[in-house]
Amino acid sequence: MIKQYLIFFSLLFCMYMGCAPYPQGKALYKEKCANCHGDKGQGLVSLYPSLKTSKIIRSSPGLIPCLVLHGTPQDSNYLNPVKMPANPNISEADMTNLINYLLSLQDNQRHSVALDSVRLWMDACN
Ligand code: HEC
Repeated sequence: MIKQYLIFFSLLFCMYMGCAPYPQGKALYKEKCANCHGDKGQGLVSLYPSLKTSKIIRSSPGLIPCLVLHGTPQDSNYLNPVKMPANPNISEADMTNLINYLLSLQDNQRHSVALDSVRLWMDACN
């Protein structure tokens, strides 16, 4: 009996933590980013960069808050008709969930960021 409970709860845990990580970050992504970067972060040819293979996300997540808060500058390398818009009103908690969702899209990516780091990155960017 105990064994069955254990299996049941590990399944629940997997569904919550492993199989659908960062549901709030995902919801925010769908609302504010998926239009350009695609439903699963795959990007769109030379118009919008893939966020699944982005070096910035992979190696320098500390740069993401400024990009999201201020949008991209006008001298973009991408042939996009629309620049990336600024999202100045994202809270620290939402930004943390969003970054962790973006990290979870990377293949073989296991690390995540903490609210404290995101707070520092956001402060440094105003
Ligand atoms: C209107 C379209 C649009 C929307 C909406 C948008 N982006 Fe972007 N994003 C772009 C474009 C275009 C670039 C490339 C800009 C450049 O290289 O100058 C970009 C670049 C990026 C990059 C840098 C990728 C790299 O490796 O160079 C990240 C990270 C990013 N976006 C995240 C986001 C997130 C997170 C959101 C939602 C909060 C978002 N974007 C919403 C168009 C968009």
